[in-house]
Amino acid sequence: MFEQAYGRLVCFADGQREIIAMQWKQGATCAVHDHGATASGRVHLVVGALVEERFSFDGQRLCHTTTLHHVAPCTIEVPPGLIHRMTASPDATLTLSIHHYEPCIASMRIYDPEGRRTVIVPDDCGAWIPEDAAAIVAIEPWSAP
Ligand SMILES: [Fe+2]
Repeated sequence: MFEQAYGRLVCFADGQREIIAMQWKQGATCAVHDHGATASGRVHLVVGALVEERFSFDGQRLCHTTTLHHVAPCTIEVPPGLIHRMTASPDATLTLSIHHYEPCIASMRIYDPEGRRTVIVPDDCGAWIPEDAAAIVAIEPWSAP
């Protein structure tokens, strides 16, 4: 349903904080997602470029709010509650980012406008819906518009 836009490697995790390296597929876009209710993060874009689209959600509709263009080297703040998606530059052969979350991401939600649902994914999942439906933690249907 949503492509796996990057490979992810957990470099450090101690239950309080985690550092994850992500190598992006050229031109790939992850699903719209948050980072659970409490995680706060910083994304250090080391190589390449990312376009970040931010959204708001009112339980019925996902609304685009802003688009940001990030070029390495830079740091992107990820405050709690942020809903966004990222697209790796189609022009950069390598896009690499290091993600630091504290507290750790827990119960990340994927926003699926076509299915009008929010999907909670396992904590070791990236920003996509697992192909194995048994791995999905929960599905929350959106309210009628
Ligand atoms: Fe994110």
